[in-house]
Amino acid sequence: MIGEISENGVLQITGVGTSPSNGLRKGVVVNIENTVRAISQAVEAAEMMSGIEVSRCMIGIGGTHIDGINSRGVVAVTGKGRDNREIGQDDINRVIDAAKAVVIPMDRQVLHVIPQSYIVDEQRGVKDPRNMIGVRLESEVHIITGSVTSVQNMVKCVNRSALTVDEYMLHSLAAVKSVMTEEERDLGSILIDLGGGTTDVIVMADGAPLLTAVLPVGGIQVTNDISIVKGISVETAERIKLDTGCCWLPLIEENEEVILPGVGGRPPVVIPRTEISEIIQPRMAEIFSMANERIQSVRKTRQLSGNVVITGGGALLPGVVELASEVFNTQAVRIGIPGNFGGLTGEYRSPDYATVLGLVLSAWEHRSAAVPESGSADSLSRPVIGRIRGWLKEFF
Ligand SMILES: Nc1ncnc2c1ncn2[C@@H]1O[C@H](COP(=O)(O)OP(=O)(O)O)[C@@H](O)[C@H]1O
Ligand SMILES: [Mg+2]
Repeated sequence: MIGEISENGVLQITGVGTSPSNGLRKGVVVNIENTVRAISQAVEAAEMMSGIEVSRCMIGIGGTHIDGINSRGVVAVTGKGRDNREIGQDDINRVIDAAKAVVIPMDRQVLHVIPQSYIVDEQRGVKDPRNMIGVRLESEVHIITGSVTSVQNMVKCVNRSALTVDEYMLHSLAAVKSVMTEEERDLGSILIDLGGGTTDVIVMADGAPLLTAVLPVGGIQVTNDISIVKGISVETAERIKLDTGCCWLPLIEENEEVILPGVGGRPPVVIPRTEISEIIQPRMAEIFSMANERIQSVRKTRQLSGNVVITGGGALLPGVVELASEVFNTQAVRIGIPGNFGGLTGEYRSPDYATVLGLVLSAWEHRSAAVPESGSADSLSRPVIGRIRGWLKEFF
């Protein structure tokens, strides 16, 4: 997806391209050639549409290697001088570094460190401790890590597609950006991003992530189930799912029928639409149950009074809201559809574009927020690490 900043500073989506990602499995590169081809095709299509050539990008990182942990750090406030115990930026940096000092295995790298809240002496739940007076400063942070090689392989594929990677961001954080309201992020909400190979789960509370997880199941399992049970090809099963799939039986009217193409010269057969749903519903229920199980630990410490927001391509399946309501035992379920961006036609205002829209949105915000360093006209030419440090704090 290509975004351009219009003269009045508004983000305009001017190009979109898609291609089947045959080189990925469960969000991880398993075939370099296929992945490079898929990226190149999608980028070319987006370039054609927008009429501009792209050389740098922001990429999403996903896959089952992703892990999120909560950590805390403590420092003594040094303040701004001997008699001034006012908390400064330096204290905040030190306390974040202290929280970051957890042992991360050699084969993993830190993707994001996001402050949740601070404790100043006995005062808990401080969002911004700057200029407060205190002796002891404690930070609570969420650290997201990923496998070094998985990230490197993804970056390598993008580079081989003649693009420079400026930044990367966890898929689910990008999706939160494009589909979750600020109120939902504060109240305690769950985002479930139903993708093809994976389902991303992230719990947001008080404006920051409390839990991130990537489940090794997605829409591909649903399609495979249909293919196996009905003895049809995966391609046909996918089309049947997209055209007639539903994961909540009560939504289907009596007498609704589906035509299954004949296999091996046999004539097509007509079956009740409920037969397809009876395959889809249990698998979708399983995916939601896995997500629900993963967040139980959070529920013990934090009441989640916001919404369950379902997004990703799988959110287009009729009945997801009803099914998720049952599994999560709440009526507060909605579909996450990306908001209204300039230039974006209705076709792209859809849950399957939530992640990529969030990436463009974040790249735009970081770019607007980044102050160009002296001698550098283009803020994007600054080294990645320095820039990431700069915007992490304002992330949510
Ligand atoms: N209308 C639809 N009904 C049911 N499933 C759909 C629909 N559209 C897309 N999907 C499913 O969504 C999945 C892809 O989701 P998407 O968010 O685009 O992928 P990813 O995030 O993994 O790149 C696929 O399994 C696809 O079958
Ligand atoms: Mg997606």
